[in-house]
Amino acid sequence: MGRRRRLSFDDNLLGEVSRGARALVVCPDIRGQQHDLDAEARLAEACGLALAIGIVVAESVVLPVRQVRPGTLFGAGQVENIGVACEQHEAELVVVDGALSPIQQRNLEETLGRKVIDRTGLILEIFGERAATAEGRLQVELAHLDYQQSRLVRSWTHLERQRGGFGFLGGPGETQIEADRRMIRQRMGRLRKELEQVRKTRALHRERRGRAPWPVIALVGYTNAGKSTLFNRLTGEDVMAEDLLFATLDPTMRAIRLPGVEKAILSDTVGFISDLPTQLVAAFRATLEEVTGADVIVHVRDMASDSAGAQKAQVLQVLAELGIVEGEDGGSAIPIVEAWNKIDLLAAEARGELLATASGDADIAAISAETGEGVEALLDRLDAILTAGAKVHEIVLPSSEGQKIAWLHAHGQVLDDHAEAGDNGPIHRMTVRLTPKELGRFESL
Ligand code: GTP
Repeated sequence: MGRRRRLSFDDNLLGEVSRGARALVVCPDIRGQQHDLDAEARLAEACGLALAIGIVVAESVVLPVRQVRPGTLFGAGQVENIGVACEQHEAELVVVDGALSPIQQRNLEETLGRKVIDRTGLILEIFGERAATAEGRLQVELAHLDYQQSRLVRSWTHLERQRGGFGFLGGPGETQIEADRRMIRQRMGRLRKELEQVRKTRALHRERRGRAPWPVIALVGYTNAGKSTLFNRLTGEDVMAEDLLFATLDPTMRAIRLPGVEKAILSDTVGFISDLPTQLVAAFRATLEEVTGADVIVHVRDMASDSAGAQKAQVLQVLAELGIVEGEDGGSAIPIVEAWNKIDLLAAEARGELLATASGDADIAAISAETGEGVEALLDRLDAILTAGAKVHEIVLPSSEGQKIAWLHAHGQVLDDHAEAGDNGPIHRMTVRLTPKELGRFESL
């Protein structure tokens, strides 16, 4: 998809996971560790994440871990089995859906003779591929460098061991690591400055948009739900002139036409992921900023997924953290419409049930972003929400206020507009239907 650029990390240390790589996905089920999803669901999610960045999952397995081995996480027998499975499936990569310490990662890579990445590494790959805003990209790169930095410690320890002693200073290994460290520190410093700059520009940008034109519709949803597919379907090929304003800063914002409101800004976001490693939370948040300012949220859901229910809970939790939703079943500060996506993949019976439920609920639209089925109904729904509460207002303006008069024609539904002589010169007496939001925007002009 053209609008998503891949980040290029100066990444000699980790190497990038290449699309098409064959992988063994392993989910450690560590006794006593709490998770939102059970091990099988987590494994399924990890496979979904791997697939989303083009990794071929050759085999996936849950491995119960009764006691964590500091050096390898898994027990020796388990590591051996992983090795055998890798040989069997000709897998060049092992994805461990959990946190590996740098040492564990290193040891596993050495023993297995293959690249090993953990959950943070996997999610970083995804964010790297998906982050669309300038700020999101910088945040992801920062998180990535931070991760690399911790992996340097691993190499250090490893080299020390090779040289046969701790506390041994000097030597080629150390020099190289020190140089790498310095390089990473400098790059992180530069990125932080850039981030500062981007934030300032974005704040300005948002302020300008806040004063000006159109309502904002934000697409949110679990990773792989179909947001981008829907975004592309709704925006189509015809890029409007106004888009140029956003395109430079933010390739995920587009103006779309809706009958009732004329125009709205559609904003795509990065997919939600469960159990987000803490170091990645900031990077993820940065990609979600637009959501908090939206007029309506479309929650895109993959109804063909076995974990559709758990995914919804995850998304609501994040929206709650952003202060948009209060509690799991609580109210929402911003209206939310659920787009039940991928109905084309459902068997007749499941599909029938789902359509029946959706048709009885004004806040749900069953769609297929792929085929376009149901998308019109979704747009009607959005239109209804954005124009809800619209009232007719009598507005009198001096004729010299051409810009305001034009704004009302562009954004409101003008029922009547006639020019007449006023006490202090010519005036326009206008009858306009406006939503409370539009009225607010008009008043702040
Ligand atoms: P992230 O960027 O990871 O958050 O994913 P996304 O929500 O943007 O999902 P995307 O649009 O990339 O779609 C994910 C996959 O689902 C793609 O392979 C799409 O082709 C597919 N897909 C999306 N919508 C539909 C649908 O309605 N029907 C079918 N059959 N496939 C769909």
